[in-house]
Amino acid sequence: MAGLVIANWKMHGSLALIEEFSQQWRGLPQLSEVDAVLCPPTPYLVAVGEAFEGLLLLGAQNCAEQVEGAFTGEVASQMLAEMGCKYVIIGHSERRSLHRESDAQVAIKARTANAAGLNPVVCVGEALEQREAGQQDAVVSEQLLGSLAQVPCDNLVVAYEPIWAIGTGRTASPVQADDMHGVIRQRLQEHFGAAGSEIPIIYGGSVKPENAGVLFGCDNIDGALVGGASLEAKSFWQIASAASAGRA
Ligand code: 13P
Repeated sequence: MAGLVIANWKMHGSLALIEEFSQQWRGLPQLSEVDAVLCPPTPYLVAVGEAFEGLLLLGAQNCAEQVEGAFTGEVASQMLAEMGCKYVIIGHSERRSLHRESDAQVAIKARTANAAGLNPVVCVGEALEQREAGQQDAVVSEQLLGSLAQVPCDNLVVAYEPIWAIGTGRTASPVQADDMHGVIRQRLQEHFGAAGSEIPIIYGGSVKPENAGVLFGCDNIDGALVGGASLEAKSFWQIASAASAGRA
């Protein structure tokens, strides 16, 4: 499979950043063997879709559980698809902790996104105390299976983001990340059978140009979900380029 790198801008950005980023991106060499996706805040989806048409794929950071109705402030998967989104991040740890999203809600969102033709990027990851207690494999396995209840495997992406590595500058070591991706792969194969081998598993948590090459050199790491380093065209391109080199 091609590498997959996803920029999660979280609640950052502006029209000025979109303009600057797209100009810089156009000046950088085109990459092959990698799908690069940009997930801006919802109000910027149209502007990003237009500015990056043919350059980057479009993604969203969240979607509603429901298909439509009286849900003020929510955005339906079908609406995202209509605006040109191909991917949607679901169950990011910030949404799980700040908005109390449960595994069951994440699974509903993933099913809704799948039905709308989007690729759901289902996020899982353990907290620092859980890793320090050696519970990470059990915690992530349980979270993963709960978040994938009745979710079809086609178009699915799993992102492993250890909470202690997000925005902290503290990346999981390549061995820690690769080991956990191996555990996730095993769970996916048990759950989906042979199709579980084809689901991309990407890593997130302080991915930078400096550590991307080593991470992508790991057998079980198929790409990255990038926060802070995705706000600059050059550094996101360098990460995408490392993913592309890992696949060549
Ligand atoms: P950082 O790359 O800023 O650590 O963020 C990771 C993340 O949460 C991406 O979804």
